Amino acid sequence: MIRKEAVLAQKKIAPISRQAAAEGIVLLKNENAVLPFTAEDNIALFGRCQINTYRSGTGSGGAVNVPYAVSVLEGLSANTNITLNQALADTYREWVRENPMDDGGGGWAAEPWFQQEMPLTDSVVKAAAQQSNKAVVIIGRTAGEDQDNAEEQGSYLLTDAEMDMITRVNGAFEKVVIVLNTTNIIDMSWLDTVENHQSIQAVMYNWAAGMEGGHALADVLCGEESPSGRLVDSIAYELSDYPSAANFGRTDFNLYVEDIYLGYKYFETFNKKAVQYEFGFGLSYTNFTQTLVAFTKQGEGKDALLHFEIEVKNTGEQYTGKEVVQLYVEAPQGELGQPARSLVGFTKTDKLAPQASQVVRISVKVADLASYDDSGSTGNKSCYVLEAGDYSFYLGESVRKAVKVTSFNQPDLLVTERLVEAMAPIASFERIKPQLTETGELKLGYEVVPGRTIDLEKRIQDNLPKTLEMTGDQGIKLIDVADGKANMEQFIAQLSEQDLVAIVRGEGMCSAKVTAGVAAAFGGVTNSLFEFGIPVVAASDGPSGIRMDSGHQASQVPVGTLLGCTWNCELNQALYQLVGEEMQANEVDTLLGPGMNIHRHPLNGRNFEYFSEDPFLTGMMAAAQTLGLKQAGVTGTIKHFIANDQEKARTEVDSVISERAIRQLHIKPFEIAVKQGEASSIMTAYNPVNGHWTASNYDLNTTILRKEWGYTGIVMTDWWAKMNHPSRAGEAGCTFTSYMVRSQNDLYMVVGVDGAEPNAMEDDSITALESGTLSLGELQRSAMNICRFILNTPAMKRPLKAYEPINTFTANQESSETFSLISEPLNLMAEEFCSAILKVESAGTYRVEAYVSYARDALAQSSCSLSLNDVYSMSIPVNGTEGEVVKVDGLPVILASGYYTVDVNFVKPGLILHELRFIAE
Ligand code: BGC
Repeated sequence: MIRKEAVLAQKKIAPISRQAAAEGIVLLKNENAVLPFTAEDNIALFGRCQINTYRSGTGSGGAVNVPYAVSVLEGLSANTNITLNQALADTYREWVRENPMDDGGGGWAAEPWFQQEMPLTDSVVKAAAQQSNKAVVIIGRTAGEDQDNAEEQGSYLLTDAEMDMITRVNGAFEKVVIVLNTTNIIDMSWLDTVENHQSIQAVMYNWAAGMEGGHALADVLCGEESPSGRLVDSIAYELSDYPSAANFGRTDFNLYVEDIYLGYKYFETFNKKAVQYEFGFGLSYTNFTQTLVAFTKQGEGKDALLHFEIEVKNTGEQYTGKEVVQLYVEAPQGELGQPARSLVGFTKTDKLAPQASQVVRISVKVADLASYDDSGSTGNKSCYVLEAGDYSFYLGESVRKAVKVTSFNQPDLLVTERLVEAMAPIASFERIKPQLTETGELKLGYEVVPGRTIDLEKRIQDNLPKTLEMTGDQGIKLIDVADGKANMEQFIAQLSEQDLVAIVRGEGMCSAKVTAGVAAAFGGVTNSLFEFGIPVVAASDGPSGIRMDSGHQASQVPVGTLLGCTWNCELNQALYQLVGEEMQANEVDTLLGPGMNIHRHPLNGRNFEYFSEDPFLTGMMAAAQTLGLKQAGVTGTIKHFIANDQEKARTEVDSVISERAIRQLHIKPFEIAVKQGEASSIMTAYNPVNGHWTASNYDLNTTILRKEWGYTGIVMTDWWAKMNHPSRAGEAGCTFTSYMVRSQNDLYMVVGVDGAEPNAMEDDSITALESGTLSLGELQRSAMNICRFILNTPAMKRPLKAYEPINTFTANQESSETFSLISEPLNLMAEEFCSAILKVESAGTYRVEAYVSYARDALAQSSCSLSLNDVYSMSIPVNGTEGEVVKVDGLPVILASGYYTVDVNFVKPGLILHELRFIAE
């Protein structure tokens, strides 16, 4: 089934995915040059994750069916420069064979966070130490969608068995290397307290590194690559020290009291000593110096640009490596208050040989140093401003190590952008604001957050779009708009009410109108829309590879956190260009990624899909990826817009945030991805922000995104998301499509296979049109956004072909096994692979109906796929039914008379397939 181009694309991705995986490894400790390993070393590998190596997290962001994945043991075994302790490796192989990985059955969010370790005895460890001079201990963790981490053993904390393993290995070896094969940061405070901790000479995060992870780790451990990853998050000794800790994990609302003081911005300002490893930190096998050799200011005022020329020198004698250059600003406290450091620029050098140097340039727009005044305390409410004073710049290897290199004085307050109040909170609460002590230190203080003052309903009414006069079919096809023969208004004016309410509905999962097993089809999903020449566009998860629940295979690249740790934009761009090429080969138009929420708290289960606690780094990484995808002719759908910062109660929990923090922290990365990364597709989040669900959030999707940023792309909901009234807020539901359209979130994802035309979700769009609470003009506006987007998709270049029943099934003429007649329901009650034989007496078209149940809530995803005589025929997707049996419409198939083996594969287990029916048409 896999097309040749897709396989070729996979081959191209592998080496660059390996490079990225290596560049994202963060080395936190390396004493007595224990690393890299040399030919003299004999290495003993401990921990089952040497075999069961995590390549991603769980949920939609991890569900790529990979052709292969290189484990740590395989990666190290393939590296001929070192010797592995084979006896120990065999012990682990055998134990893992007998104690296979527990994937929780493979179902949605069912995989445990950790795997039971092989219990160690002193004799096993001592025997290993007699052969080997160095030990590597691998600790693995996963997490993901719908499953936050917890401050529990086996999640954020080590288990007793892991502690025991480390203690015994420390006791027997003098040179121990700890490798953290985790999706997220975990507790590391034990490093200083565990028994014989002096033996731990090296520590590194290799994260979840995709298919090539094992090779990449071997490259670094064995010295082919010097580590050049740097932390994208602050690692504190105590979870309770994170500034969001007291306001994370509730199910009703979370007050974002930390405001803009998140991660290092908090720690560097208020609590340095709480940090074990600071943001930006990471070691190399060599040493570098960073020297500012020139600083120039080009232009004046808000348009001025600051150029920093920095000479980086590899001062080591032995190893070639890359260095990350980090530039931070310290802005004057002024009226608004500022963190002690904010990242404003970074770059990565080329590979520098010992004693070699390179001059790199970082340019910073003065406007990007501005802060948003949401209170009016500077006299400029709703403006981005630079307050008067000295702006000092710090350069170096991490936020803590960066030293002051230069500064400039801003004589007067400078307004860089005049905006309007948008998304301000309704709830009253206090946020962090630094207070200056008498000795000139900054101490933690609080101030009341400015609340909403605008009339949102008036804003919406004043900006309602004009309705285009409906013309009926004028024979204009979408291609005519592309060719300049008609404009978009003329094209959209042809669409009927029915067309307009259907085009805002995406179908899925696993629609047969697009590539098998992907998350959604949208655009020309009804016959009528298709007749206007609107192709059907395919969207697939993301972010770290193409997810096809049909079981079809694709490459999996490292997770977002690892890619953030590379601090390498060019590499991210190049990698995602190749992912884009694989998408092209699979006829996928948009990838549901990059994920780019802020790492607000270490326990957020989906942190692995996102890049960092820092908005600038996040935005730059996402922009690089969206540019790469664009270069391949496809797009990335940046998500989740915004503040999907915890998985617990993710469709309910209100993120209560000040407007300043929304703008400077939570939408900032999206702004960068839109403005610099040319992103043209956005997914809103499940959650509300300040009482308004994001999928119907007018200020988010219209005032800020379209009006301020000039965005002309599409906005889609997250899958089965809820909306509430765009101005009154209030209760939320999945059928309030009219609220969604009013806010200019264009597409509802997803209404079920073939659900757009019959309005399978029973959304309120037609009733809202009738009652006048939604105008045709608003629907036309979203239809234009969607069609404008489609014009630039590969779907536009593919031959337009309507969906037709698959007719490639060849019947067997005999069967020695028991069979059922096709006219009778096939009673299966299956949860795992099953097979049955069907006899077709009269050739013809048969429509498939599946009766399934899935004992999970509505956002859980599961699917199985059917093959007929070994040919893939369709996927049966289902989201949680709370255990109720529901009918899922399959596809029509054309069958000749004879016998067919029906194989059912549970690609995403969880559902129970009760019955299959083949209805003659
Ligand atoms: C996730 C999205 C994902 C979508 C489609 C949702 O559960 O939140 O990130 O893209 O499903 O799989």
